[in-house]
Order: sequence, then C-alpha cells, then structure tokens
Amino acid sequence: MKVAVLGTGYVGLSTGVCLAEIGHEVVCIDVDKRKIDTLKQGKSPIYEPGLEELLVHNSSEGRLAFTTSHQQGLSEAEIIIIAVGTPQSDDGQADLSFLEQAAKDLAGHIVRDCIVVIKSTVPVGTNEYVKQLLLGQLKNNCEIKLVSNPEFLRQGSAIQDTLKADRIIIGSDDEGASEKIQEMYRPLDVPLLLTDVRSAEMIKYASNAFLATKISFINGIANLCEAVGADVEDVAKGMGCDKRIGAAFLKAGIGYGGSCFPKDVKALLHTSRKQGIPFSLLEETIAINDHQQELLVGKALKRFGELKGKKIAMLGLSFKPETDDMREAPSIKIAQSLTAAGARVAAYDPVAASNAREIIGDVITYADSAMEAAKDADALFIVTEWEEFKQLNVAALLDVMKQRIIFDGRNCLDEVLLQASGRIEYYPVGRPAV
Ligand code: UGA
Repeated sequence: MKVAVLGTGYVGLSTGVCLAEIGHEVVCIDVDKRKIDTLKQGKSPIYEPGLEELLVHNSSEGRLAFTTSHQQGLSEAEIIIIAVGTPQSDDGQADLSFLEQAAKDLAGHIVRDCIVVIKSTVPVGTNEYVKQLLLGQLKNNCEIKLVSNPEFLRQGSAIQDTLKADRIIIGSDDEGASEKIQEMYRPLDVPLLLTDVRSAEMIKYASNAFLATKISFINGIANLCEAVGADVEDVAKGMGCDKRIGAAFLKAGIGYGGSCFPKDVKALLHTSRKQGIPFSLLEETIAINDHQQELLVGKALKRFGELKGKKIAMLGLSFKPETDDMREAPSIKIAQSLTAAGARVAAYDPVAASNAREIIGDVITYADSAMEAAKDADALFIVTEWEEFKQLNVAALLDVMKQRIIFDGRNCLDEVLLQASGRIEYYPVGRPAV
C-alpha cells in the first residue's frame, strides 16, 4: 500500500519505518527541513534503539522516502497517517494547533480518495472535528474517510512495541476504511480491536492514565513501606503475581515523566471537568507524582540538614533509560530544587546531556562519566536507571566521593555489589535504608 506519514517525531518515524519494513511504500513528511535532510542521509534525529537500522535498510530498498513537500508526499497516498504532537496547553488540555495545521496542509494537497488515520493522542471528538476541518478546506473533490488509530509504543522500545504490539486499535464508523487499515496492519500478526471512533480515542487516554495511576499507587505504597519498615520491591512482586493486577508498571521510584503520561493524565482530567464528571483519582495520581519528584531532595535535606555548599552527583537526566528525551523528566525539578537550595550539581547521562542543557541550562555542570560526576561529591543521586549505572563499580565510585552516600531514586543498584563496596549509606525508595 502507498502510505504517507505526517510528522517525524518518534511516533511518526517508528510507524513509518515499521510499515516500510512490512512491505508498504512509505513517504514521511515533515515541515522541519533539517530533520528531513538528516533522515535522507540515513540518520535518525532521535535516539531510539533499532530505528536507524530499519531506516537505512528500507530507504535503500526504495520503500521509504522523506520529504518536506506535501504535494510530493501526498500525490499517491491511499492512506495518510497523522502523527503530529498534541502538547499540553497552559490549562491542561491538549493543544491541537499542530493537528489543525496538518489538516490544513492536507486539505490543500490531497488529490485522490484516501483514508486519513489519526495516530496523534487526541481528546474524544477530535477525529470528527478534523474531518469537518478537512472537508471545509478541501481543494480537490475527493472522498476522505477518517480512522482513529492510537498508538501504544514506548520511547526506548518503540520499534519492538510497533512490530510486536499487544493490540492495534482501529476506530472507525466506516466498514470499508476499517477493513483497509486492518489489511495494512495484517502482516504484523498483532491482535486487532475494532471500535467506534470515540471509544478508540478514549482507549488511549484511559490506558495512559491507568498506567500512570498504577505508578502513583505503587509510589504511595512505597512511601508507606518506608514509614512502616516494609520493602516495596517485595510488596510489588507479591502483588504482581496476581494475574488480575500484573507485575508491569509497579516499579516504585521518583515518579513518571516523559512526553505522554504527564500531559495525558492532565488532558483526561480536563475532559472530566469539562463534562462535569468528577474524577479526583486523576488529581491524586498527579499529586503523588509531583511529591515523588521531590523525594530525593527531601531525603537529602533530612540527611544533611541543609544542602548549601554540598556537591551532588546526579546520575541520569532523561525521563527513562534508552532515550535522550528530557520532556517532563524528574531530573529537571531535582536539579532546580538542588541548585535553589545552594547545592552544586554535576550530572552525567549516557545520551541526554545536550538536550538537558537546553532545558536546565548551565546552573549545573555536565560530566562525561559517572566517575567524573562523583568526584568529591557529598552524595550520589540515581535519577534514571540506565543499564550502565546498574553495572557501575560502586566501590571505585564511592572511593572518589567526599562522603559515601547514595540516594537511589530507581532502586536499581545491585545489592550484592553494594554490600561488597564497604562502608556506605544507601537510601532507596520504599525499602529500608542501609
Ligand atoms: C508511555 C506508554 O507506556 C506507551 O504505551 C504510550 O504509547 C506512550 O506513553 C505514549 O502515549 O506515546 P513512554 O512515555 O515512552 O510510554 O514511557 P514508559 O515506559 O511508559 O514510562 C513512562 C514513565 O513512567 C517513565 O518516567 C518511567 O520511569 C515511569 N515508570 C514506568 C515508573 O516510574 N514505574 C514503572 O513501573 C514504569
């Protein structure tokens, strides 16, 4: 099939390369010329494991192309996938301006009957709104059908999540359009769930809000565990054995971040308020997460009395491992609170330092290794659970520090290695300190 993908963020790009991989002819369109130039050279503008290999492979086989020209990209498309961002507005609701612009760009350049698939995360009712926008501005007389097809891929495992998804949701009120999209995905051999448009839109928000709530729930339990002397890692394991609960997303820590959970929970809350349907559970999910992001600083303040003049080594900046994405990363708040309290911060992240510098700025310093960050530090904060940190030679790291104190926000350091590292103060989340 001939597919055009609008937007080359990590959703659009992962979708584009994976559809090419299963045999479709894909053109990815983006207004950002620099991005398109990079992609044309076979380079990925984002750090996403496995993406670049598929990009090179499918481009060289002639199934994947990139352009800034809507005219060129849309001329043959039977299916157009919109994957532009829907960031958060000041009042919490989803900002649809990129989507509106995309609809405008499409309306001017669609030259044949086609199916427009909305993959962007959009509030219930948006597919209908976009259809009206498109129909109102369409330059050529073509038939357009809309399909809601939210995505569930995670940054850092976007390719695997696309090729081996748990499910694909196809929301459509048109049987023919739904069948065509089913056919597009069939080579993936993934369960397809067919729904109406509004339910498909809601499935996305409900899924993200549920996962975020699961994280806040276990973080609430973690804080209680600390108070009563229990171990949240064992508690989560015990809970997760129950198939009705499931073990995933029960990892306690310093809260969720990223470009999705924070904005999607707020957008769903905004919808509930707009509808006059109370949903204070979501407020609590957000409140616990806000509290959790301050956890390490609170613990350090309690331990040191004050942080003025202390040097803190921060390991990890990205909102989670295997990505350089800094959006809503807990590290931002942590760095700001530490510097506001008068601490000096040296941070190290395997890939996110340059993105971090753009957000946090030069109020902290950026080291080239964990060892360099830890030199003369009064405490180490583990902020992101990169594999590299789990393999750290903790004993050597502690030896270059001024004080042998670790606050582990992700409970990711190996207990055996810790025990072998000599005298140490170790403060995990939701488990007894060592
Ligand atoms: C999330 C969803 O998992 C995807 O299904 C969805 O498609 C995506 O949002 C989206 O809407 O585009 P993502 O934000 O990439 O994916 O990352 P996750 O792996 O879900 O992690 C989100 C945050 O939760 C991270 O900060 C992570 O550290 C935190 N987390 C996750 C925990 O604190 N504990 C856990 O047990 C799991």
